[in-house]
Amino acid sequence: MLLHTIKEVREQIKQWKKEGFSIGLVPTMGALHEGHLSLIKKATEQCDKVVVSVFVNPIQFCPGEDLDKYPRTLEADTQMCAQAGVDIVFAPTPTEMYGEGQMKSNDFLTYVIPPFFQVNKLCGKSRVGHFDGVCTVVNKLFNITQPDFAFFGEKDAQQLSIIKKMVKDLNIPVEIIACPIIREDSGLALSSRNKYLSDEDKIHALALSKILNNIKNCYNQGVTDVEALKETAYKFLNENHDLEYLEFLNDEDLEEVSTANDDTRVFIACKVGGVRLIDNIKLG
Ligand code: PAF
Repeated sequence: MLLHTIKEVREQIKQWKKEGFSIGLVPTMGALHEGHLSLIKKATEQCDKVVVSVFVNPIQFCPGEDLDKYPRTLEADTQMCAQAGVDIVFAPTPTEMYGEGQMKSNDFLTYVIPPFFQVNKLCGKSRVGHFDGVCTVVNKLFNITQPDFAFFGEKDAQQLSIIKKMVKDLNIPVEIIACPIIREDSGLALSSRNKYLSDEDKIHALALSKILNNIKNCYNQGVTDVEALKETAYKFLNENHDLEYLEFLNDEDLEEVSTANDDTRVFIACKVGGVRLIDNIKLG
């Protein structure tokens, strides 16, 4: 069922809790693809009832980002969810979530701010305030749907790590389930932003997964020096690529490493045809 208000969702969840059903939440911004479907599949296998939220969260977009342009495909999303056995699609308006917001009134003032050491790197460096918006909306969605389990993709590994820390620090009674990255046969990681890529951009976009796979191969052959591993990336890059970062961090706490090991995750962000793409791989 498609619900737009917090009140309706709360009433249904209350009923399900009374009946003893376990609840799974898959938070999304819509434009659903196979990557989301893999989270939904895991949720339907593991939980009695599944809620998918579809909400393009304005407070996680920074000035100049693609908020207005972000793909909105609620009808197709709802159909996909129905076919996948989802019980509730929760698609609130921004006003339902934030009232008139901070700018126009005091309707919404309280943010959840993740720790600086987790956000002063990777996407957080260029997207100042982004993770405040993510943590705040995810917290609100947890409070609205009260899930036993919530499903997040490893594609956004920094987001996953920040949300896990928030849940631990704030004692939120939910178990976070991490789900692997889903890729096209070509290797391109699925993303709602891939819709913006031209056919030619899509070919250039393969550099991201090629760089990551090549680094993993080199690591498997015994190269552990991060600078040497970074060097191997440049042969895949040309004038069609605007590399934002290529970083080697410990998967657990996102601390930078200079010697790679099995716990190292390699993160890449690169613009192709003006579209910002991210990808990552764990070396172990
Ligand atoms: O990963 C996303 O799509 C969003 O950041 C999330 C978790 C749905 C919060 O808006």
